[in-house]
Amino acid sequence: MPDTKYAATGAPDNAISQKVATLPPSGIRKFFDLLSSIEDVISLGIGEPDFVTPWHIREAGIYSLEKGYTMYTSNAGMPELRQELANYLELHYGVSYHPEHEILITAGSSEGLDLVLRAIINPRDEIIIPDPCYVAYPADIILAGGVPITVPTNEENNFVIRATDIEAGITKRTKGILIGYPANPTGAVMPRKEAHAIAELARKHDLFVISDEIYARLIYGVEHVCFPSLPSMKKRTILISGFSKSHAMTGWRIGYVAADRRFIQALTKIHQYTMLCAPIMTQMATIEALRNGESDVEKMVQEYNTRRRFMVKRLNEIGLSCFEPRGAFFAFPSIRATGMNSEEFAEKLLLEEKVAVVPGVAFGSCGEGFVRCCYATSLPDIEEALKRMDRFVRKTRRAHGRQRH
Ligand SMILES: Cc1ncc(COP(=O)(O)O)c(C=O)c1O
Repeated sequence: MPDTKYAATGAPDNAISQKVATLPPSGIRKFFDLLSSIEDVISLGIGEPDFVTPWHIREAGIYSLEKGYTMYTSNAGMPELRQELANYLELHYGVSYHPEHEILITAGSSEGLDLVLRAIINPRDEIIIPDPCYVAYPADIILAGGVPITVPTNEENNFVIRATDIEAGITKRTKGILIGYPANPTGAVMPRKEAHAIAELARKHDLFVISDEIYARLIYGVEHVCFPSLPSMKKRTILISGFSKSHAMTGWRIGYVAADRRFIQALTKIHQYTMLCAPIMTQMATIEALRNGESDVEKMVQEYNTRRRFMVKRLNEIGLSCFEPRGAFFAFPSIRATGMNSEEFAEKLLLEEKVAVVPGVAFGSCGEGFVRCCYATSLPDIEEALKRMDRFVRKTRRAHGRQRH
């Protein structure tokens, strides 16, 4: 019998869990819905590499299909991949993980984040996050039954969360600190000194650090501090990362979690019931990425760096003051001089000049007064977008000036 119970009226009000029903939709989504209704927009909005996955990596995925490697793999991921990953983490960050017990291959770092939060959170446990931060952090904490506690960051501190501010947010219910550096949306990186102070705090209060290092390879002229590599932090850090950004592999859905075996066992329990394993062709492509993809990463980083320098320089010239982002592929200029809030600015810029940026407030209240501009788009497009932004800012400043006189 077909289920016709809800056919006429749609799902009833109580069909959706309260947790999901009350979860606000992502501020980014709302904006992209508007964007999709307008033609010929130059987008500095989407946080995704504009590069296609390098050919030899795609070829390895094709080879998997051609040879009929189309099955499940072990839940934890292919042993060769975990071994390559262990070598990679040792080589780049000097941190050693046992490939069999301390690494789990996931469908994107997004799956990893969800697994980690579900595995460690008891109802109403608190997780500290920076404000502004990646939109999934508070949402995933709420979905896992926890409470996100935001700690403000600001331009004066280069948007780096400080140990002293974290300490002020610690209560009896605090379970851990979730950080992501290099950061989305600000491009901030975590200086070693501050990382040490946070590590010390975690030890003092017996907290876990969940470190989302998806942008670790996109770093410009500074070091990336890999959190588990700090003294005695490996056992209390859960490292989440992947290849979406470093190897331009967003659509492949591949990521990993590296942590103490107790964590990995717990995560694997959820993963085996919900995802089973990451796609085999993706895993095979990632083995190739790890074995032979280094020069691709370097080339892409060089190109991002050229765009980054250009964008930051132009934003400052236009009068949208912008601190220097040293990681990821985002600039986070202040738009306060225009007298608009970030949503107004983004919406008007889109409607009047067809340039898409993301309102900073979509990433938390401390993002108000800023917009996120992604430079993972071609230099000619960035040049044109900034020309249009210049025109827009001049126009709005004149109007703002007239209103004040
Ligand atoms: C900070 C951060 N973490 C995680 C992700 C998700 O990446 P993945 O494609 O590995 O799921 C993103 C994607 O934009 C991100 O910006």
